Amino acid sequence: MKDMNLETSPDSGSRFLRACLRKPVDCTPVWFLRQAGRYMQEYRDVRKHHTLVEICKQPDIAAEVTITAAEKLGVDAAIIFADLLLPLEPMGLDFEFMAGEGPVVHHPVRTTEDVLALRTDRAEDLSYVARAIEKVGAHFGNRLGIIGFCGAPYTLASYMIEGGGSRNYIETKKLMYRNPTAWNGLLDKLITVLTAYCKQQVEAGADVIQIFDSWVGSLSIEDYRQYALPASKRLVEAVQQMGVPVIYFGVETAGLLTDMASTGADVMGLDWHQPIEVAWKSVGYNHAVQGNLDPITLFAPLDILETRVKEVLRSAGGRVGHIFNLGHGIVPSTPVENVQAVVKMVHDYKLEQARG
Ligand code: CP3
Repeated sequence: MKDMNLETSPDSGSRFLRACLRKPVDCTPVWFLRQAGRYMQEYRDVRKHHTLVEICKQPDIAAEVTITAAEKLGVDAAIIFADLLLPLEPMGLDFEFMAGEGPVVHHPVRTTEDVLALRTDRAEDLSYVARAIEKVGAHFGNRLGIIGFCGAPYTLASYMIEGGGSRNYIETKKLMYRNPTAWNGLLDKLITVLTAYCKQQVEAGADVIQIFDSWVGSLSIEDYRQYALPASKRLVEAVQQMGVPVIYFGVETAGLLTDMASTGADVMGLDWHQPIEVAWKSVGYNHAVQGNLDPITLFAPLDILETRVKEVLRSAGGRVGHIFNLGHGIVPSTPVENVQAVVKMVHDYKLEQARG
């Protein structure tokens, strides 16, 4: 683990970490969900020679992709290049990424027997991610925050049960409502594997862990409370006990934010559907927040983009504990120069303006 003495190091890595811990910063830290990906030529060049999973499994290449993206953008944090679905493999589920289709899990989990067959004793197989984190840490030192990540139990369970992305989450909700034993068994197994996986990442030097509950917005508030929240809370607490802050993120979560914040996550990731000033009230000012520019704004002319960036900053009100980000991931055709321009806009913004 890294030296957490934040008071003495004025670098941008601690700017990000300071904001996670709601300490004052010289300017708002910024990074982007999916900052390494197909919108970047350098990534496309690497992808010509390797599949996505090959990149993830070769620490040299995963580290290079992570570092290149963060350097090119000038952001304050680097998220390790990996994928949400990697833990499925050591649990016994094969998957692949089909062009244009996203992930496909070949034998989805549908029954009690399927859950019983899942393994929890092979998290060590994921240590290639930790090795990549070590390499990124060796490169950046304390210059940038290093973010490890994993999926939240609900979101990963939904991929395992649906066999891929989904529109209505029918199979997930069928298992959830009709077979609570299997559902709870599945979440328990996920927590075991994800806790071990996060521990590897923290020991390798991750400063923060982001837990992606990307598809939690598919749940009503009652269902979130009953079927997803307790498992997320257990994972958040387990990671916090490792000594790092947790960022907890989902999409279409406006109605869920207050409950999501009750996981105790240090930072709440916000999607772009409501202004930060509204969302932050639901979350509570005892949490930091991260967000929340609509990723498609990156296609707007620079003057409109700048207006929107400043609206996000103004909406955060110059309060301690805001990390600038998008409300969801960068999409493949995004112009890189607009992403770079946003970094400059955020860093140049005078926080006193927002405080009015
Ligand atoms: O800089 C980064 O953020 C890249 C690291 C990263 C990837 N996946 C690499 C990737 C991260 C943080 C993820 C997380 C991830 N993976 C999430 C949570 C984030 C979110 O968007 O809510 C989810 C839901 C996944 C599952 C996943 N992986 C999907 C649905 C897809 C296909 C969608 C698409 O854009 O094609 C992937 C593929 C994937 N993972 C790509 C990248 C760069 C693009 C595909 C490729 O390079 O072939």
